[in-house]
Amino acid sequence: MKVTLRILRYDPETDKRPYYEKYTVEAEPNDQVLDLLNKVKWHEDGRLSYRRSCGHGICGSDAMRINGVNRLACKVLVKEVGTKITIEPILGLAVIKDLVVDMEPFFEQYRSVMPYLVNDEPPPIGERLQSPEERARFDDTTKCILCAACTTACPSFWASGQYVGPAAIVQAHRFIYDSRDRAAVERLEVLNNRMGVWRCHDIFNCTDACPRDIEVTKAIGEIRISIATGKVD
Ligand code: FES
Repeated sequence: MKVTLRILRYDPETDKRPYYEKYTVEAEPNDQVLDLLNKVKWHEDGRLSYRRSCGHGICGSDAMRINGVNRLACKVLVKEVGTKITIEPILGLAVIKDLVVDMEPFFEQYRSVMPYLVNDEPPPIGERLQSPEERARFDDTTKCILCAACTTACPSFWASGQYVGPAAIVQAHRFIYDSRDRAAVERLEVLNNRMGVWRCHDIFNCTDACPRDIEVTKAIGEIRISIATGKVD
């Protein structure tokens, strides 16, 4: 079948404003949208810029807006989106070129929640053990691949890039409820302000956008409860 791609192009060094460019490529129903971008880049227009690496929904590098919805290009098949596909960069981050955005503000928010295990108690012989139930408490948020699909689908983030954003909150959740960690109080303090968890308006865009099916809005709600009650359990 023939598929028409309408791709938002922009090179800040040469273009006054973004513009759409159309390409028609041969495709199979089970081709990924990423396959089609590769066809364009390798055979038609080598200047087209986008990030990709693993091709299998693991690295998180190819988040983009596909027919107006944040998706990973490697996880969307042609048969799911039809023969006319509009592709744009994710919103709320500056475009470096075409579909490549500046991820640094996103990673700055990520770093602000201390996304690593904190525990200065002497380690026991062997390893710091936890029960299957303790591990299950934060299992959902371990699935995050930092693709930014959730944060850049969030109107609160579009309104203010100062908002810490759902991805950083998910990463905080992963450690706050880890029985081996000792920095939950500090993380809750980081998130307890108007640019933290209270900026979320529960519209679930983040949950809908997550390619790993993480219950993002639920995780944000659990952190709010911990802040309000002072309990981390
Ligand atoms: S290329 Fe790695 S997640 Fe899509």
